[in-house]
Amino acid sequence: MIDDPLTLAPNLISKMVGRAQGFYASASQQDLGLLMVMNFAFSEGKYNGSTLTVLGRNSVFTPVREMPVIGGSELFRFARGYVQAKTHTVDLTTGDACIEYNVYVMHY
Ligand SMILES: *[C@@H]1O[C@H](CO)[C@@H](O)[C@H](O)[C@H]1NC(C)=O
Repeated sequence: MIDDPLTLAPNLISKMVGRAQGFYASASQQDLGLLMVMNFAFSEGKYNGSTLTVLGRNSVFTPVREMPVIGGSELFRFARGYVQAKTHTVDLTTGDACIEYNVYVMHY
């Protein structure tokens, strides 16, 4: 399960605007392909209380991984779109990673 801070910049002293909560599972027998199931739960500004839901395949060694935004709540009702995820830093000893998500979403 994951429950990670969503920050504006790629470090933990940067302003937190929400949390990335969900889970992922190893879903590929050939390579490292994850099934990601994740909510971005926002806690700042006009999006406080709103969520975006991401569900897709994360081929973690690909430089840019695209995954669908399949919906959202509150201000993100009827959301559709995609995210592009890039690994900013990864520590293979601790397993800690810092990932940049660029989110493209249409909503009402
Ligand atoms: C976000 O909403 C919660 C619940 O309404 C509230 O307790 C909190 O103070 C809000 N945070 C900000 C930064 O507005």
